[in-house]
Amino acid sequence: MNREYFNQFSTPNSLASINDLSPEAQKAPESGIMGIKDYAAGKEGVIPLWVGEGALSTPQFICEAANKALLEGETFYTHQRGMPQLREAIAAYHERLYGRPFSSDRFFVTGSGMHAIQIAVRLCVGFDDEVVLPTPAWPNLAAAVTVAGAKPVEVPQHFTPEGWKLDLDELFAACTDRTRALFINSPANPTGWVAELDELQAILDFARKRGLWIIADEIYTRFYYGEGRKTAPSFYEIANDEDRIFFVNSMSKNWAMTGWRVGWIAAPARLGQKIENLIQYSTSGVAPFMQRAAATALNDGELFIAEQIERARVGRDKLLRAFAGNNAVKYAPPMGSFYFFFGIEGEQDAARTAQRLVDEANVGLAPGFAFGQSGSAFMRLCFATNPDKLDDAISRLTTWLSR
Ligand SMILES: Cc1ncc(COP(=O)(O)O)c(C=O)c1O
Repeated sequence: MNREYFNQFSTPNSLASINDLSPEAQKAPESGIMGIKDYAAGKEGVIPLWVGEGALSTPQFICEAANKALLEGETFYTHQRGMPQLREAIAAYHERLYGRPFSSDRFFVTGSGMHAIQIAVRLCVGFDDEVVLPTPAWPNLAAAVTVAGAKPVEVPQHFTPEGWKLDLDELFAACTDRTRALFINSPANPTGWVAELDELQAILDFARKRGLWIIADEIYTRFYYGEGRKTAPSFYEIANDEDRIFFVNSMSKNWAMTGWRVGWIAAPARLGQKIENLIQYSTSGVAPFMQRAAATALNDGELFIAEQIERARVGRDKLLRAFAGNNAVKYAPPMGSFYFFFGIEGEQDAARTAQRLVDEANVGLAPGFAFGQSGSAFMRLCFATNPDKLDDAISRLTTWLSR
């Protein structure tokens, strides 16, 4: 068939346009984090600290488990909820963290933490419903709500040099008849805010009273810098197994597996069939070789996690030392996660600042507007990176700031 043949059909209306897409797809925002990465593409020598991952690749013993499974022919469809061996490994991991028994029936394997969030939102939020979330927040949380045809309602947290604060009265006041869920990410990306146990208790009490769901994103719980406890305060410490909570989690950060795309949901076991159905209709399950690797990571990865946490702690200390007393920057010491979220004196347009930092300082940071209105004058730096790179980035930034 020649071009003439096709041309006879091609009126302007025959071309697919964005207006032809569903309203939900049209409203899906571009990620502000990816925007700066694209801007810097091809620029030599930029130290990239914009995404949330460290510099270490996945440890060999984890990769070997995947290799072995592949070579042994584990290349078929598998359990939609996750292989029993992996679900048991996740349960055992929780038992070690929280010192009480967990049934593997509560855990559902997903194709990443992001997929866990997608499914959790789909499970409890419908068209035109509202989900209330404290911000600044990782943009994908609100975007997952938008893509589901629902409305994210931001509750801006308050910056103080001691830490970001969540006003619980403001959080509760933001809930309307349309609200179906609260999205609580603690330790938080990007602010490093960590909810105290009594704040989690107040949120849980409110949610119980109002029949709301909580989507609890505690993926950074191991990266906690407070005194007196090893992990950040968690809903696991106060909730019972039947509460309306979807915990979303991921292999990405603890085990340096960002490129693998494996995560999980923890939820009341009796909802299992519905959760399985949504997995069936989205990914139809996670590849078995990846599940074998994930189980190995969970069972044998504690030493590696300790190394990752130590790296993040050292990176955090370096930043706090480097910026102490520097009036050109404002920040609250992060109490968890692995991001340094800071404002720069005289710089209000974070998008422009991020570009200038790429061009003039050769450092790549994520602009704060990506994380909601209340973060718009801030920049996010991931400090879980290679220590030498971080030293370089700090020295470039301090030079740029004193220009
Ligand atoms: C708060 C938060 N939740 C969930 C995720 C999802 O992680 P992944 O999709 O890599 O498992 C991220 C990733 O950066 C995150 O920061």
